[in-house]
Amino acid sequence: MPTSILIKSGNLVTATESYTADILIQDEKIIKIAPNLYAQDAEIIDATGKVVMPGGIDPHVHLALPMFDTISSDDHYTGHKAAAFGGTTTVMDFVVQEPQGFAHSVDLWRRKAEIAAVDYGFHMNLTHFDKQVAKELPALLEMGITTLKVFTAYNGRLRLADGDIYQAMRIAKKLGMLTMLHAENGDVIDVLVDEALAAGHTSPEWHARTRPAWGAVEAAMRGFSLAAETGAPLYLVHMNVAGEVDMLQYARQKGIPVMGEACPQYLFFTEDDLRRPDGAKWICSPPMRTQADNDRLWEGLADDIIQVMGTDHCPFFFDGTTAIRYEGEEIIIPGKELGTDDFTKIPNGLPGVQDRMPILWTEGVAKGRITPNQFVAMMSTNPAKIFGLYPKKGALLPGSDADIVIWNSDVKVNYGIKRSHQRTDYSLYEGWALTGYPEKVYLRGKLIVDGEEWYGAPGMGEYLHRTPNGEIL
Ligand code: URP
Ligand code: ZN
Ligand code: ZN
Repeated sequence: MPTSILIKSGNLVTATESYTADILIQDEKIIKIAPNLYAQDAEIIDATGKVVMPGGIDPHVHLALPMFDTISSDDHYTGHKAAAFGGTTTVMDFVVQEPQGFAHSVDLWRRKAEIAAVDYGFHMNLTHFDKQVAKELPALLEMGITTLKVFTAYNGRLRLADGDIYQAMRIAKKLGMLTMLHAENGDVIDVLVDEALAAGHTSPEWHARTRPAWGAVEAAMRGFSLAAETGAPLYLVHMNVAGEVDMLQYARQKGIPVMGEACPQYLFFTEDDLRRPDGAKWICSPPMRTQADNDRLWEGLADDIIQVMGTDHCPFFFDGTTAIRYEGEEIIIPGKELGTDDFTKIPNGLPGVQDRMPILWTEGVAKGRITPNQFVAMMSTNPAKIFGLYPKKGALLPGSDADIVIWNSDVKVNYGIKRSHQRTDYSLYEGWALTGYPEKVYLRGKLIVDGEEWYGAPGMGEYLHRTPNGEIL
């Protein structure tokens, strides 16, 4: 049995360079990168003509997240497996803040994640703040959590008052933590939702019509102002509006420590998709916008105004009334049908963790909108740096974890539900013609995906204790 793996003659693509070399892997680590390497007894993998890049890092997924009398339909095994089939070897999930405190909340999430198949970290949703919570924040660092997500929407559920966000950010600054912001105007949304329902508007398009784009722009700028006032870094999640890109660019030009995250769905779809007969499939928060918004988001990525590509993977079944078999098990998880008569009851969220890298390679790299190096930066290296994982993750360097994707950039794939391992009954990208797809995926030196074969297993994924003071890019 070979003890090491030698990946020969691949076109290595990192965030900054592209070159041909061999990679020697021993145990879980990359130990050497150079041309013409030789290692006795190593298993040789010929990567001639293939792109070799660090495993993807998706910093924004919601697995087994309770919502509206149901739960997001991928758990910490099925979602991880789907991630791996798309070239992603690290994901970060959001812990729900329970009244019993952070230790209890994290413990619940750690138990859910015992079935992890790729490496994973956690963010803490900060949805309640008081003196006791403030006192407990340093303990999160001991649990390996360096990031807090705050919300300016979902009033009465997840929203924090601006003053609470301000106080949390002051503490975050002292602790070297990063605040992540969900930016929408919760007050305006509540008024518009009440008015829409009173007028009998119940269809999916009203989800977007009751969540105005200017609310996102204003709330993003509000967050950037708090970053300016506290000096604490802020990361704007799931950007969906042109004005957010403008505000981010403005704040960054002023030297405020702010960064942004795009997600594929906001690059390709618009409010028009909500008007389709199956429009509920596209319901997520924040919602799809217009082509002009999508175009500006692409510009933000190409011009490095936006640093990261996440997914906000939070899948639900379109028809959750029919039992499906998954890996020999019969399951039924209520889904989008919960809101057939009322758009406010449609669970918010979409599948995407597997789609992220293949879709963005085709639409971004193959179509010349971003370079292969930008692709690696936003998919892997930048999230590793921002979220305190670099250079263990996100790098092709001696000493880094051997999380490696061998990518066939020429292969043509007819994408859709047949290729999907995401545990739901639809793909947003049904019938899309892709150029480029992962061929082999290694997690810490172990082959977990080989074409359509799965070699991973529940429990293989390791919890990542992240380090504070991540980079501000
Ligand atoms: O619709 C979405 N995005 N659901 C997940 C929760 C969130 O705000 O990210
Ligand atoms: Zn959010
Ligand atoms: Zn989210």
